[in-house]
Amino acid sequence: MTKKIQVGLIGCGTVGTGVAKLLLDHQSLIERRTGVKFQLKKIADLYPKKNRPFKLPSALFTKDAENILNDPDISVVVELIGGIEPAKTFLLKALDRGKHVVTANKALLADHGIEIFQKALQKGLQVGFEASVAGGIPIIRAISEGFVANHISQVYGIINGTCNYILSEMTAHGSPYDTVLKKAQKAGYAEANPALDVGGIDAAHKLTLIAMLCYGAGVTTKKIFVEGIERISPIDIEFAKKIGFTIKLLAISKEQGGTIELRVHPTMIPSTHQLATVSGPFNAIYLKGDAVGETLFYGRGAGMMPTASAVVSDVVAVSRAHDERGIIGIHEFEDMELRPMDKIESEYYLRVEVVDKPKVLSQITGILGQHDISIASVYQPQQDHGAKVPIIILTHRGQEKNVQKAILKIDELPFVVDKTVIIRVEHFRKKEGKEKG
Ligand SMILES: NC(=O)c1ccc[n+]([C@@H]2O[C@H](COP(=O)([O-])OP(=O)(O)OC[C@H]3O[C@@H](n4cnc5c(N)ncnc54)[C@H](OP(=O)(O)O)[C@@H]3O)[C@@H](O)[C@H]2O)c1
Repeated sequence: MTKKIQVGLIGCGTVGTGVAKLLLDHQSLIERRTGVKFQLKKIADLYPKKNRPFKLPSALFTKDAENILNDPDISVVVELIGGIEPAKTFLLKALDRGKHVVTANKALLADHGIEIFQKALQKGLQVGFEASVAGGIPIIRAISEGFVANHISQVYGIINGTCNYILSEMTAHGSPYDTVLKKAQKAGYAEANPALDVGGIDAAHKLTLIAMLCYGAGVTTKKIFVEGIERISPIDIEFAKKIGFTIKLLAISKEQGGTIELRVHPTMIPSTHQLATVSGPFNAIYLKGDAVGETLFYGRGAGMMPTASAVVSDVVAVSRAHDERGIIGIHEFEDMELRPMDKIESEYYLRVEVVDKPKVLSQITGILGQHDISIASVYQPQQDHGAKVPIIILTHRGQEKNVQKAILKIDELPFVVDKTVIIRVEHFRKKEGKEKG
């Protein structure tokens, strides 16, 4: 007799509607592939009757999530309401009642994940969170299963579609940030309040989860260095192009000698690198393991159906893993030492906005020299004397601490009219990693 698993869905908005559609329309496809009938038994949503792009059976709906949490036949609870509360309480209650949980809620897991994962471990239950990082790309499964035999030395992710769309449009058309942000909002690639996305926080939430999986690191987002894309201007993008580079918001994780560095910031990368070709709202993750070497994942990082695809794959995975008595994901959290941002080394692109006067350049380069930062090149676009002009400086490899101290001093100079823009440069050189080959 075919095994049956009953599923309860809490939250039927963008992603929830896609999940309900997939579970209902693809039930026999999934049964053929898994030998299990996954039955969507109940959907809880505050407004069952709201307009959705697909018609869902009204008999499945309830307004009260407790009707799912209290149903003894439901063994998998999918949380897709977002936010911290009541999502966290729903997940913990579901686990307490012996149900596996699936969520796409990166904000919740990044800051409260340890509590939720530990509760699941105590209870011998599963937490599926594939959709919380890079939407439809199965990166969580790849790290926790496909690369289980690897030490992972580097992860570079384009994991926020809004930022990637904005930077791609600025690169393609030379348009300013504000204009492109409005276009992104119109096209549905940016929220009305885009702060979490453009400020880099959403990418940092996802990086937190990647670090938990790769290293068992008990970190929260607060420990991650984050800079957003708000201050990137067409000048930066044009200059990057001139020297063969592209600007991307990267979430970076590097492990070396037992310490890890985690950071999210706009980064100049060689235009010849595969990540530089990832444009529009797409996501990509470059990951290097000591056995597998370099790998690259690409796909849609958000949207109703790509995200639903990942959620439904989790519904299947958590049910299967339970049968095999194996828990996927994170088993132990270690208090790992994070390399402080001060200690990282990089090459830097600096854009200093000045009122053009004699000796301006020598004072700026003098400060950099006093802080041990050696200059690779300087570029000053021609402008009328007296007007505000950018001075663009590329440095050789230096310490972040020194660069930050120097920039504080430079920004105090009377002829500097705006905060200096810093963009870190990544070359993906082999010697930066752990292995030599
Ligand atoms: N959208 C994406 O592309 C995407 C991609 C990856 C991950 N995610 C994550 O997926 C989750 C859901 O995102 P979404 O875009 O689908 O959000 P959404 O469209 O706002 O959907 C949330 C739904 O949950 C309902 N809801 C809120 N509180 C509830 C409660 N107490 N009980 C029952 N239903 C409740 C909401 O009703 P009301 O509308 O009436 O408030 C809404 O229908 C979030 O954690 C998000 O970060 C989304």
